[in-house]
Amino acid sequence: MELKIEDILKKGKEINSLAVTALDKVNDMKKWEELKIKFTGKRGDLSLLLKSLNSLEKDKKAKYGKVLNVIKSEIEKLFLLKKLEIEKNELNARLKKEIIDIHLPARPNENGTIHPVSRTLDEITNILGCLGFKVEEGPHIEDDYNNFTALNISENHPARQDHDTFYIKAKHGQAGQKLLRTHTSPVQIRVMKRDKPPLKIIAPGSTYRCDYDATHTPMFHQIEGLVVDKNVTMAHLKGVIRELLTRFFGIEDISMRFRPSYFPFTEPSAEVDIRCKKSENELIIGEGEDWLEVLGCGIVNPKVLKNCNIDNAKYSGFAFGLGVERFAMLKYGIADLRMFYDSDLRWLKNYGFAPTGFPNILRGTW
Ligand code: PHE
Repeated sequence: MELKIEDILKKGKEINSLAVTALDKVNDMKKWEELKIKFTGKRGDLSLLLKSLNSLEKDKKAKYGKVLNVIKSEIEKLFLLKKLEIEKNELNARLKKEIIDIHLPARPNENGTIHPVSRTLDEITNILGCLGFKVEEGPHIEDDYNNFTALNISENHPARQDHDTFYIKAKHGQAGQKLLRTHTSPVQIRVMKRDKPPLKIIAPGSTYRCDYDATHTPMFHQIEGLVVDKNVTMAHLKGVIRELLTRFFGIEDISMRFRPSYFPFTEPSAEVDIRCKKSENELIIGEGEDWLEVLGCGIVNPKVLKNCNIDNAKYSGFAFGLGVERFAMLKYGIADLRMFYDSDLRWLKNYGFAPTGFPNILRGTW
């Protein structure tokens, strides 16, 4: 029997309305997929109908095929709309079920803290930066010449023994004994050899001595200061130190004294003490009858200037060196130096600082 276009159309519409009724009852994707295969799959009702056109002549086949394809795309559209509807319903159901209780406490956010040494380095560098000092750095592995000889500490000088130096085994044929710098003073030498006066620098960084007790760790930090210019005097040194101590400890017009001392690289030399009150468990800075040593300083020894090819008839300078851990201990009431480097999280949480973006000229966040 010859197929007629009307029959084809009728059959197609039948399939369409069957699909509509069937889809109407569907509300999950599994059922939807089953129906999709039944109606539009390779062996589905529509495909069978399309296949039945194979027996027709070419032009009829094309004409009827076109009509059937329109029906097919209508049915596919029905399926697509149904799919969107099911997905929407499923999502709504899930959202209802998975309600987030916004009253629950947030998960604790474990923030790290800034180590008191970093913080103190930042504070001191910033104060001196404001006074016009430029930050310089030097290598931690130094040679004997920069660390000692150029600083007027000769081979047999007792100060060499005082420093408990970590020496590094010399490589074969290597000139100059290598060591871990025992202080930041070799940076003075490097800067004076490299640049011409006027110089106004600070050199913050770690230093090393073979020593370990409540007030010594093998690695610790210093900040060196150096000014070289014409007519530099002890008065300039005093002015800078007073400003530094006043600002760092936050004590207006801090009471301090310059006690004569000795360093081979400064002449005259002094140690600076600040006034404090020591009671059984407490140390109060700025008042009382006791004195606490905080740094070493002096007028740069003309021999040191000469060692760096600076005309010591024309130029003079002052230098100072302070222990960063000591400053931190005094300001923040930390008793034992060794705890700084024990990496005890409880200690770090207690003495550390919130990372609030404290400015730092050394790290370029100034
Ligand atoms: N370098 C000295 C020390 O480590 C400190 C110091 C620096 C003293 C500069 C005077 C001048 O003890």
